[in-house]
Amino acid sequence: MIRRKFLAATGSLIAGLLLATSAQAAKVYQVGTDAAYAPFESQNEKKEIVGFDVEILKAVAAKAGFEVKFINTPWEGIFATLNTGERDIVISAVTITKERTQSMDFSKPYFEAKQLIAVSQKSKVTKFEDLKNVKVGVQTGTTGDEAVQKLQGKTSSNIKRFESTPLAIKELQNGGVRAVVADNGVVVNFIANNKNSKLKLIDDPSFEKEFYGIAVKKGNKELLAKINKGLDAIKKDGTYDKIYKKYFGK
Ligand code: ARG
Repeated sequence: MIRRKFLAATGSLIAGLLLATSAQAAKVYQVGTDAAYAPFESQNEKKEIVGFDVEILKAVAAKAGFEVKFINTPWEGIFATLNTGERDIVISAVTITKERTQSMDFSKPYFEAKQLIAVSQKSKVTKFEDLKNVKVGVQTGTTGDEAVQKLQGKTSSNIKRFESTPLAIKELQNGGVRAVVADNGVVVNFIANNKNSKLKLIDDPSFEKEFYGIAVKKGNKELLAKINKGLDAIKKDGTYDKIYKKYFGK
């Protein structure tokens, strides 16, 4: 009798331990991404979040031994979700900037980018300087927004801000702005997929190189180390190159 009780007790203790360890193994990191940014992150017909960033982070997670759940998160306020704990990771074609580094930690860079100018095919704009006194559309708080602020001044009323880059491009097509300044990958992708966009791109040498990083809450060294380890591993074994080729060719 006592023996049986003992066995039952140890049995449930073991079951409890198993449950606890499996709960730990299933630690899933919540990932914020603004999924209106193809080819980096967008939603397919099934509302699944897909894209270069998604595949990169999934590959990183597989190497580093953690799981990820992607959650479509508006760009405005996306970084704040790291501090509130709503998100553990932000991967969203985020450029590593000095200012951002003060309030969050970034992985090693995983992608090089730069700004491009999109204008109507009929536009006479040939360089960034030409945008000094014209209405320009940007996604709020992006490096494109910052670049135009530098040119026009922080308080310029000629900067029209949108919650997403596709919305800014739509406004350009509707004639509400004369140009859009945004990341190269996204505008190139847009024009490639919209043959009748009637837009062209201008590559101005004055734009600086940018590097995307994966962001975590400031001080989350443990998670950052895992991400960097995973990044190193996928760069080393060819997984990174395979994903890069799939989205950008060459
Ligand atoms: N690279 C630019 C930045 O960091 C734009 C990123 C926008 N990303 C997005 N998923 N909407 O400011």
